[in-house]
Amino acid sequence: MVWGKEMDQLFQSTSLGPLTLKNRIVRSATNEHLSEPDGQVTRAWADALIELAAHEVGLVISGHFCVDASQRADEGQPVLDEKTDREILRCAADGVHQYGSKVGTRQRCSGKTSGGLFTFGTGPTG
Ligand SMILES: Cc1cc2nc3c(=O)[nH]c(=O)nc-3n(C[C@H](O)[C@H](O)[C@H](O)COP(=O)(O)O)c2cc1C
Repeated sequence: MVWGKEMDQLFQSTSLGPLTLKNRIVRSATNEHLSEPDGQVTRAWADALIELAAHEVGLVISGHFCVDASQRADEGQPVLDEKTDREILRCAADGVHQYGSKVGTRQRCSGKTSGGLFTFGTGPTG
């Protein structure tokens, strides 16, 4: 493959909706399987996202969060609800931001009402 102008664009800043991205390298939503058995997020989960940012991923999209604890896809899928540890979400966001990257959460319900929602927040993630 020849490295042309198109490839240079990969490393150029761009905007995506409200976000300014430092480059065009995106990690698509990929289930990390790093929650506690009860669905609580873990420091290992946050560290996985931070490591991607440390390696020049400009936009890190988390694996899917289940927004209904009774509808998880598998043990290891984190739950995003009122019991979610905000400190760990904050740790993930701050850790990604320190590399100038952005992070968003992929949210879905894996049961009968399965569908998807992808958000950037002004809260712990963003
Ligand atoms: C191992 C694995 C885990 C994935 N986990 C998720 C996930 O948690 N949430 C989601 O929306 N998509 C998930 N996907 C789908 C990917 O985000 C992506 O849409 C898919 O791999 C197609 O990418 P492509 O169009 O670049 O080939 C997963 C894909 C793979 C291979």
